[in-house]
Amino acid sequence: MPQRLKGKVALVTGASRGIGRAIAVALGAEGATVVLSGRSVPDLKTTSQQVSAAGGAAEVVPAELEDEASIRNLVAETNRRCGRLDILVNNAGITHSAPLAETTTEDLDRCWAINARAPFILCRETLPLLKQAERGYIVNIASVVSVKGYPLQSAYTASKHALRGMSMSLAEELRGSNVRVHVICPGGVDTELVSRVRPDIEKADLIGPEEIAELVVYLVTHQGNAVLDELHVRRATSSPWFVS
Ligand SMILES: NC(=O)c1ccc[n+]([C@@H]2O[C@H](COP(=O)([O-])OP(=O)(O)OC[C@H]3O[C@@H](n4cnc5c(N)ncnc54)[C@H](OP(=O)(O)O)[C@@H]3O)[C@@H](O)[C@H]2O)c1
Repeated sequence: MPQRLKGKVALVTGASRGIGRAIAVALGAEGATVVLSGRSVPDLKTTSQQVSAAGGAAEVVPAELEDEASIRNLVAETNRRCGRLDILVNNAGITHSAPLAETTTEDLDRCWAINARAPFILCRETLPLLKQAERGYIVNIASVVSVKGYPLQSAYTASKHALRGMSMSLAEELRGSNVRVHVICPGGVDTELVSRVRPDIEKADLIGPEEIAELVVYLVTHQGNAVLDELHVRRATSSPWFVS
């Protein structure tokens, strides 16, 4: 099978583990050069080895997404090393699980900074590069809580609603241009994050991170005029999305 992303450059945040690592490896398997970002350099290096083993190339660019200067440096470094950008995957995220009354302003600010503010800044700072691509893609990894409300997750839910809202607006703003904006809203995926907030879900019932990665690859390789703006992805044992 020919590699469909040969010559393309993708930037994946939260690539040090979990869903981001799976996305990076899947894009690498299609021949992309993947800029891997996160804070843990040893973990990013592990992802880098996996991307190379899959047939792609990797550049490790650590960043602290709470810090705008660090985000700007990530984009500048991507441009300096790769000279182009075709795909931005805003995947990094944190959760916070507590009753609203026990959620501090700092907890809220941290969720907001990483889950909504950083993707906003990354979209803004990468758009000039994405507009130069033949086709540019922004894939925002939102959540089931971008659409629904789960108890004990008010800060996380608010930030993920914001991410989805920003994506809706930007998708409309960029309609007809070469840049498409996609949102993926997964339910429980088998990562460290879900094991912290939903230890009640059996591991065997969770979605595999590589299943989310497959969807990203589909979105950024699909040729033609059909566009899937938003993907709602649930665990097979959970209620279908159209049942409220
Ligand atoms: N797992 C699920 O069930 C699930 C469901 C729906 C949506 N999601 C979403 O999917 C995305 C990935 O989640 P995951 O389950 O793979 O989580 P995870 O295993 O906890 O990984 C989170 C990633 O985000 C990075 N990150 C966290 N804080 C950061 C910061 N301040 N600066 C830079 N990077 C930071 C982490 O890297 P470092 O620690 O190296 O910085 C890590 O690579 C998140 O947006 C999450 O909300 C997950």
